[in-house]
Amino acid sequence: MDQYFKSYEELDVHRLMLNDTTRTLAYKEAIFNCADKFEDKVVLDVGAGTGILSIFCAQAGAKKVYAVEASELAKIAEEVVIENNLERVIKVIHSRVEDLDPNEIGKVDIIVSEWMGFYLVHEGMLESVLFARDRFLNEEGILFPSTAILYASPCQLPSMFQFWNDVCGVNMKCIGEHYRKTKSAKPEIALVNQDDLLADKKVIAWLDLHCVSLEEINTLGNEEYVSVCNKEGTIQGICIWFSVIFPDSSELSTGPQDKPTHWKQTIIVLPVDVKIEVDEPVAFNLKLKRNSSKERNYNIELTLLDATEVEHEIPCYCHMPKCLVTSTYLEQLDQKEKHLEDHNTFCIQDDHGK
Ligand SMILES: C[S@@+](CC[C@H](N)C(=O)[O-])C[C@H]1O[C@@H](n2cnc3c(N)ncnc32)[C@H](O)[C@@H]1O
Ligand SMILES: [Zn+2]
Repeated sequence: MDQYFKSYEELDVHRLMLNDTTRTLAYKEAIFNCADKFEDKVVLDVGAGTGILSIFCAQAGAKKVYAVEASELAKIAEEVVIENNLERVIKVIHSRVEDLDPNEIGKVDIIVSEWMGFYLVHEGMLESVLFARDRFLNEEGILFPSTAILYASPCQLPSMFQFWNDVCGVNMKCIGEHYRKTKSAKPEIALVNQDDLLADKKVIAWLDLHCVSLEEINTLGNEEYVSVCNKEGTIQGICIWFSVIFPDSSELSTGPQDKPTHWKQTIIVLPVDVKIEVDEPVAFNLKLKRNSSKERNYNIELTLLDATEVEHEIPCYCHMPKCLVTSTYLEQLDQKEKHLEDHNTFCIQDDHGK
């Protein structure tokens, strides 16, 4: 058995996920809000774990739920189903979704899955959901969640380094330097304070789960991004987070501005500080590429770029002269159009009054 599935046999892992009520209740509320979509429908829960999402679907009115779980936890899910008297609706299947016999479940109306890992795609479980979509979902079928978005923003990390400046009166800045080297060698999973975000967030990937292909998720991002600083400070890392959107438009968001979840945020720590001022553009390329030897992992590559040499969005609100000129021009155009609209409204009313 794959070490990945073995790790899901640990009950504490499930306790951590179930106890992340931002996560669990986001699914519950989205499923219950869409009860009309579940009524009498057939559902496939990809990676059912303890069976919690399957139970929500059955409670929302599904006719049949296939709870597919590859790890030994399938046996426990079975007990949970019986404990909740739902064995006539939920069928637990102990299998990888990829190994299911297509005749065993036929086509389904809805796929529910909690597949997200750190920085969205760590664990590589999305691949299994897309496989299930292509093999089992009806043409008109829907996915819960239906959209996933990956964001990034430059940030400072005061609590990570300040500690070493004064440890009970002893200066340990030199350890801070070593510490920073180790921290910048791999993604750091930690909570970032929302006040420590220094610039606007950039969308690194926007995945419509109904149509995104397996190939498209091999590489995410890999574009030049220009983020405009909204305060003065020191950039020490790039903070990455995600949100997913359900068919009722509700959102489970895991950013620094949201209620903390067990995913926290992922930080790419910079080896050196970068001082910035208000309205300064920070240009970077961020690329997440599936690791060809460890397929459940991604390599994250961050390159800081020279903001004077990359294209900026139009309009861009940074302090570079070309952006100032364009944004001022567009603002004036906007005001002219608004003035014309107001004027037209006045004429129409005037006419009507005659
Ligand atoms: C993040 S957990 C979610 C568990 C549960 N759905 C919940 O929301 O609490 C993902 C689960 O999917 C299972 N899993 C991952 N890939 C799978 C696959 N290809 N086929 C079946 N189960 C899978 C894992 O063993 C794990 O229990
Ligand atoms: Zn600009």
